[in-house]
Amino acid sequence: MSEYWTSTAFAGLLLGLSVYVLKSIFQPSPVYPPGPRGLPLVGNALQVPQKHTWLKFSEWAKEYGDLVYLKVLGQPYIVINSAIVAKDLLDKRSAIYSDRPHFVFAGDLVGYDETFVLAPYGHNWKKQRRLVAQDFSPSTVPRYFGLQENEARRLVRNVIGNPGSFSSEIKLRIATVIIRVTYGYYLKGDDDPFFTMPLRAMENFSRASAPGNWLVDVLPVLKDMPAWMPGSGFLKTATQWRKVVWDASWNPYLWSKKGLETGEAFKPNLCGSVVAESDGQLSKDDELQLVWAASAVMGGGMDTNMSAVLTFFLMMTLHPEVQTKARAEIDAVIGQDRLPTISDRASLPYVRSVMTETFRWCPPIPLGIAHATSDIDIYKGYTIPKGSWVLPNVWHMLHDPESYPDPETFKPERYKGSDVEMRKVTDLVFGFGRRACPGFHFADGTIFAIISTVLSTCDVVPEIDDNGKALVPEVDYTSGTIVFPQPFKCRLVAHSSQALAMLSAEMERL
Ligand code: HEM
Repeated sequence: MSEYWTSTAFAGLLLGLSVYVLKSIFQPSPVYPPGPRGLPLVGNALQVPQKHTWLKFSEWAKEYGDLVYLKVLGQPYIVINSAIVAKDLLDKRSAIYSDRPHFVFAGDLVGYDETFVLAPYGHNWKKQRRLVAQDFSPSTVPRYFGLQENEARRLVRNVIGNPGSFSSEIKLRIATVIIRVTYGYYLKGDDDPFFTMPLRAMENFSRASAPGNWLVDVLPVLKDMPAWMPGSGFLKTATQWRKVVWDASWNPYLWSKKGLETGEAFKPNLCGSVVAESDGQLSKDDELQLVWAASAVMGGGMDTNMSAVLTFFLMMTLHPEVQTKARAEIDAVIGQDRLPTISDRASLPYVRSVMTETFRWCPPIPLGIAHATSDIDIYKGYTIPKGSWVLPNVWHMLHDPESYPDPETFKPERYKGSDVEMRKVTDLVFGFGRRACPGFHFADGTIFAIISTVLSTCDVVPEIDDNGKALVPEVDYTSGTIVFPQPFKCRLVAHSSQALAMLSAEMERL
């Protein structure tokens, strides 16, 4: 090397070093949002409980405020406890808050990141989201109203006839609706593999994606550990769960494609419409994106809806006065000679308030689905590092006594029939920014159909024991990404023989 290059390189090195030293002296170190003090190395890992995590976060909100900073084995987490801050960051700065965390267990190992629910913000996410958004937009969902209403009626009629089946019947009817609109397949019963497989996939999803459940998410090197080593059981679990996701996603798609040719598939349905539009000429990538988009719809539309409907039944069992008021509204607006339909929504503000209060009282996804930052951000002087997991504590926002006085009480009257107030709840429950739930309008129809059909035709009452004493259910919830009331019993008692007759009227399969 010539003398010139040696001295230039040396000068460059010196300059670089000086800039680095000056920067470290004069650049203030980042100020992160406040949060509980962690331990060396593990950070806050031991302070975050796996059970009812949102309650712990809510406690911390009282101590540290709207933004809480946690670090688990080097991974920064930002918990948002205020609706305003959630909107400021996740909605208004969506350009950098729309990624998903890299889930090593749920994504790399099990494969849930094939669906756009967990996919990074990029090609696959965009393509899949576009497919779904066009099929479930406010202008397209009315074509499914008939199906949603029919299944709501079947649900109520079957539970009246067999109270013990209430929880499994809810699952079956909700799955029937979503699988029918996704694949054109009408479920044959609760042992149909097109029902049991996605249910298993969803159960696994909730456990696979719950923050803090898997050590490999914070220590990714573990994914390469040999299968014979003690502690590698999670790899076996991942392999088994992967097969479940693949079967649950590909089998109904392949049926749907064939069903389109044989005429067996009910129309319209998401897969059928896309395949038909392409004239059978889908590229490999288009087909792949369709399979996983459909899988996301099936996954997104099952457990969330079941959670909301189970919470509705639990609340009705405990609040007969709410049922009486809702029924009076339905009788006054619709009368008793027909059943309410989804198109009656606008004229039933109290029934809509019952639905909204159900979402508020226990949002199906209390901590939302984590977003991730694709760049560093500064908010109100605090540094939000690139790659942070951002968890909106929706449960806390909806139980903040300043916005919702007496938040533990189930009180549909709190909205005073105002759609603006109700919208504030659904705007949080269905997520944020570019990742907000694309199934909102569809879910709104399914759940309204069930709630209004129940309230117009029967009373929800507690089960009675052998001595005739009412078994009032205890309120407790499971943990995980999507939460459910712990199993409880209730019965549906029809208001009249006329109500029963309307529920039993011959229904078409749609
Ligand atoms: C009570 C019913 C439902 C609730 C409470 C709910 C809630 C949510 C929430 C909180 C998110 C995460 C949003 C975010 O990241 O900020 C989400 C995403 C999603 N939901 Fe729903 N959802 C429901 C029903 C549905 C239905 C019926 C579908 C199918 C049509 C669906 C499909 C999806 C999909 C595909 C995503 C991922 C969106 C993305 O990452 O871009 N959901 N949902």
